Amino acid sequence: MIKTRFTEQFRISVPIMNAPMALVAGGALAAAVTRSGGLGVIGGGYAGTLGGEPPLAEEFVKAAGARVGIGFITWALAQAPELLERVLALEPAFIFLSFTDPGRCSRRILKAGVPLICQVQTLAQVGEALAAGASVIVAQGTEAGGHGGARSTLPFVPEVADYLKRHAPEALLLAAGGIADGRGLAAALMLGADGVVIGTRLWAAREALTADAAVARAVAATGDATVRTTAIDALRDVAWPREFSFRVIKNQLTDTWSAREAEAETKRGSLRETYAAARAAGDFDIVPAVAGEAIGLVHGRESVADLVSQITAQAETCLTRGGSCDFR
Ligand SMILES: Cc1cc2nc3c(=O)[nH]c(=O)nc-3n(C[C@H](O)[C@H](O)[C@H](O)COP(=O)(O)O)c2cc1C
Repeated sequence: MIKTRFTEQFRISVPIMNAPMALVAGGALAAAVTRSGGLGVIGGGYAGTLGGEPPLAEEFVKAAGARVGIGFITWALAQAPELLERVLALEPAFIFLSFTDPGRCSRRILKAGVPLICQVQTLAQVGEALAAGASVIVAQGTEAGGHGGARSTLPFVPEVADYLKRHAPEALLLAAGGIADGRGLAAALMLGADGVVIGTRLWAAREALTADAAVARAVAATGDATVRTTAIDALRDVAWPREFSFRVIKNQLTDTWSAREAEAETKRGSLRETYAAARAAGDFDIVPAVAGEAIGLVHGRESVADLVSQITAQAETCLTRGGSCDFR
């Protein structure tokens, strides 16, 4: 058993949360993580502002009574205050906010007595998250799949740990970005985290809403095959602030555009219809599969229960034996 402040305060048996992955972490994935001893979260993504997202109430039904939270992209949730009211009525175990100042949504969440978890990409954002009332900070490194910033997990997590020790010792810290097996979990705990948020490895889990063809691309690739760019959001015209880029598995679209970010900005929206049609058709040459560097550690589609128990057992071995953990 790995006991941390996170497992104790949230009354869970493994210090693992799934990432609130938009269009991927539905009720089935979240419930499976909770039932495997971790903390499950449904990806509320763009809070319905993007279109084509699964209805949240239905995903809560699919979680079938498991204790799960829900995550949102903060700048999108800020545009949908009525959705926040409907979500609070579903009594989520917590709300997870990421990307831009959570202060614009947090008051209502805290008033409802729901714990607030905030994911940050820079040290400056830690102060904003604490001021907004976050009781858990998730330090996200640039290795992460999906949107993120420029800091790397290895130096960022201990720097946030030191900051919290000085300014908010009661706040919990989770590490995210590139953590996909027991070595990553053990390392995160060594860096000062109380637990981890896992995206990419659980993106490939059987219970995720991820298309088989996307997982097949990840399995065939190595960790060299991802790229982080702002070009995709410009071309498809999704209103991400420029400080956040998108890490995806390279494809024809990113081969053409990822290094031409300024030019893509001048062509904002030019691929909006093409992109929407490709998404509907499941064309991964145009719509890239969204995953992080940890695809190099994804070898197939396993169940959440198997993944969580493997990751935990490996981490226990690492923590007991110290260095030189050989899992091959
Ligand atoms: C497919 C996918 C979708 C994501 N969507 C969101 C999201 O909607 N909101 C969010 O806060 N983070 C999102 N993320 C980022 C995760 O919260 C997390 O930081 C990341 O997955 C951790 O790194 P890893 O992918 O290396 O495990 C997403 C990540 C992936 C892979």
